[in-house]
Amino acid sequence: MVPSRILVTGGAGFIGSTVIATLLKKPSTQAVLNFDALTYAGNLLSLQEEAKDPRYTFQRASVQNLEEVQRALEDFQPDCILHLAAETHVDRSLNHPQTFLETNVLGTGILLQATSTYWESLPLEKADTFRFLHVSTDEVFGSLGDSGQFHQDSPYAPTSPYSASKSAADHLVRSWEKSFGLPCIITHGSNCYGPKQFPEKLIPLMILQALNGDSLPVYGDGQQIRDWIHVQDQADAIYQAACLGKPGGTYFTGGGQEQTNLLVVETLCRTLEEIGPFVESGFYKKNIKFVQDRPGHDYRYSMDCRKTQLDLDWKPHYAFADGLRETVRWYLNNPAWVKSIQTGEYRQWMDENYGWR
Ligand code: NAD
Ligand code: DAU
Repeated sequence: MVPSRILVTGGAGFIGSTVIATLLKKPSTQAVLNFDALTYAGNLLSLQEEAKDPRYTFQRASVQNLEEVQRALEDFQPDCILHLAAETHVDRSLNHPQTFLETNVLGTGILLQATSTYWESLPLEKADTFRFLHVSTDEVFGSLGDSGQFHQDSPYAPTSPYSASKSAADHLVRSWEKSFGLPCIITHGSNCYGPKQFPEKLIPLMILQALNGDSLPVYGDGQQIRDWIHVQDQADAIYQAACLGKPGGTYFTGGGQEQTNLLVVETLCRTLEEIGPFVESGFYKKNIKFVQDRPGHDYRYSMDCRKTQLDLDWKPHYAFADGLRETVRWYLNNPAWVKSIQTGEYRQWMDENYGWR
């Protein structure tokens, strides 16, 4: 079924803002509600163009607030929920795990509770086509060695408070589906990169550090492997899963482009030399610094995405080198967005204009 009234949680974040832009490009989309708490990771500047579209509305609210969620569902009457709101940074989860439990576990539980009450109130034909899509991660399956891949029946084996909280959220979603029949879909994404990503994650952090002439902190020996997917490919996969995914279905939305962290940083350095401000050859690379490893650092993630690609009639389009070049160019050309994060001025503006009710 093609969704037309879509409630997106976490729509002011990195993937969420690209998902909203993608939804608004579809003529079948009648209305999009961006339901986002605007934590440090949410940025309305990522949606400046989309905010001009009369089909788009924004509500500052938390998935942990049952009343807010209930009101949004009753007022907006969605036929699909795309649940992306989460605390997402592994390093933060090591220092402040509680927020991850509150948002990712409790918040998902509250959203499910309100959604199932709303869903039960729908007329039969609307209840049949309604979808709750939960965006999860490849990290819930734990860490791989040099070979092998995660499969649809791989056991959960999370290793960080972040991945454990996402696993708990997945289990809650499955339990609502089994116990109450709520039509739920789960997607497991691999590492996304692209424009508008908060510069705590590897790629935007390295771009901004490099442009500032600062050191490039590679954890441990930099030999850990991640599977990179461009955020537009991820957003397209999420949309396809909402349209074609079967209730109870699990979909692996990986990029199929595995790279060691060190190689990613070295490629970034070369890309910056080519398209960034003029510097002597090797300028950025000499700033690579091997620093203390992340505790419990997962070595490698990799998913077998063949079934998902067939089921969803989807495959990633971006080659990593091209996507990386486009991403670097975006950060070079959008100093206002970067400044909004670095100075915190824009956060103050959002707090003043979208304060809690
Ligand atoms: P992000 O950190 O960029 O954005 C998260 C968004 O959620 C922000 O806009 C924030 O304000 C909002 N949010 C946080 N707590 C909230 C709450 N209590 N109520 C409402 N909104 C809240 O995240 P992202 O990288 O775009 O990731 C989106 C989703 O995709 C997450 O569920 C994440 O686990 C999953 N995921 C991310 C990646 C990746 O590489 N970034 C890969 C796989 C899966
Ligand atoms: O795999 C999907 C996951 O990818 C998502 O579920 C998470 O939300 C997302 O944050 C991401 O998790 P990672 O921990 O893999 O991403 P991060 O960008 O933090 O780190 C990527 C790799 O780079 C990881 O092996 C740690 C390393 N790293 C990271 C940073 C920030 C460094 O070496 N130096 C750094 O400064």
